[in-house]
Amino acid sequence: MQIGIDFGTSYSAAAASIGGRLHGIRFGDEKQFRTAVFFPAAVPDPNDFVLTDELDAQVDAHMRSARAAHRNALDAWRRRVAEANALPAERRVEALALASEPVQRSEDQLRAAALRSVRAGWMDRRVRESRGAAVSVNDAVFGDDAIEAYISDGYGHLVESPKSMLGYNLLPNAKKIILHIATHVLEHIRLSATRQLETPVRAAILGRPVEFKSALGPQGTQQALEMLTEAANAAGFEDVSFMEEPAAAAMHYHTQRATPERSLIVDVGGGTTDVAYALVGGPERAPRIFGSWGLPKGGTDIDIELSLHAFMPLFGRGEPGIPVHHFREAASVHSPPQQREFRGHEYRNAPPPFRQRLTALQRFGATSQLNRQAERMKIHLGEHAHGRVDLGFVEHDLAVDLDRSHLDAAYADFLDRLRALLQRARGDIGETPESIFLTGGSSRAPAIQNAIRTQFPDVRLVVGDPSLGVVSGLAAAAALD
Ligand SMILES: Nc1ncnc2c1ncn2[C@@H]1O[C@H](COP(=O)(O)OP(=O)(O)OP(=O)(O)O)[C@@H](O)[C@H]1O
Ligand SMILES: [Mg+2]
Repeated sequence: MQIGIDFGTSYSAAAASIGGRLHGIRFGDEKQFRTAVFFPAAVPDPNDFVLTDELDAQVDAHMRSARAAHRNALDAWRRRVAEANALPAERRVEALALASEPVQRSEDQLRAAALRSVRAGWMDRRVRESRGAAVSVNDAVFGDDAIEAYISDGYGHLVESPKSMLGYNLLPNAKKIILHIATHVLEHIRLSATRQLETPVRAAILGRPVEFKSALGPQGTQQALEMLTEAANAAGFEDVSFMEEPAAAAMHYHTQRATPERSLIVDVGGGTTDVAYALVGGPERAPRIFGSWGLPKGGTDIDIELSLHAFMPLFGRGEPGIPVHHFREAASVHSPPQQREFRGHEYRNAPPPFRQRLTALQRFGATSQLNRQAERMKIHLGEHAHGRVDLGFVEHDLAVDLDRSHLDAAYADFLDRLRALLQRARGDIGETPESIFLTGGSSRAPAIQNAIRTQFPDVRLVVGDPSLGVVSGLAAAAALD
């Protein structure tokens, strides 16, 4: 039995076409899962914690800074109340309702919170010291559960979007780890498919972007394909082949159309954006692909930009004395080396409140949590003018308000590149397509749909299933062999 596998940067899915009917493989209750794996690590025993003089001094410092923060919040509240009282009666009530009095915590409560924080810092250091020690592969957790486990437990190794690492120059050990993780993901898929289709699954067509994310040029794509083949073989697939993701989406559209049409297929995903020009529909077994074009950027790059524009100023981005690349490292949750760099920085001399916030962001799980908020806000602001993000996991009561200007700034670079990609494709095909078939999770974004419409104002836009277009086409192609 040959299946189609969409090993995506953000989400992975698999399907088989049997007797012309599509069978989506389920992962729990879903037809796809987050391409993330969490390997729990040995957790240090919190009972080993002893309050030394040094740690006790840290507790005092925490309490002093919490008292100062409370005094500042109280002053700000008093000012707000005074301003509200100066307003005309009809606006006063609303303004007073918005100004909430900061809660006064007792000395005992302050001490308990300070102790918790110092103990957490001590645990982090213990974990960091024992990094690389006992990691239990058998306890691997997949999908959203992996990210949840990492955020709540912290201790262990989380790899999000291993696909986005395949095209980079990897040190032998990092290469081994990424291979290992890709193998795990593919094995998870193969075993799920074998169970659900009730037949051994040993062959697969894997989707591949036209161009992988890479710092090595075309050699990066070559390396990525070799690593994926090796991982698939190790996962028990004896027969592995690849199909470009937009060609797979074209295959899916082909199976749905009775009459032939020249269509530009656009797949805007998490890591890459891929385009193909194809003759789809009609009696042929498969579409005819005339050409394909790739941009190694996608939704995850927009998340990073949103994080940089909307969140990182609260951590001191733009402050003299804190190198600007630290913020990109912190936001790049898909790159373990950049995350490691960020965690290794020392912020003892950074001015408050950035010192405390950056240190909080260095805790295990914190950057992943921030990135999740960025992704959620990107999606939310596509439909709403405003949004508020609670950053209480960084600092008590910290929150940030976002609006469309943040979203526009986050999309700007991606949209420029998307326009350039579409212009290149249009120049190469030298005619106007009869339709544009749109798929990929990021194609839900109004900003992206508008940019495509503006490039091809007179062309009919066919909005396909954003999540399952590619995997459906791969399954249809797998059934042809
Ligand atoms: N409503 C939305 N608005 C904007 N972006 C969205 C929306 N819904 C999902 N996304 C984004 O879509 C991306 C995931 O898309 P998709 O599942 O097609 O990617 P993928 O196949 O895993 O990645 P790739 O094909 O690049 O390897 C994520 O970046 C996600 O944030
Ligand atoms: Mg995809």
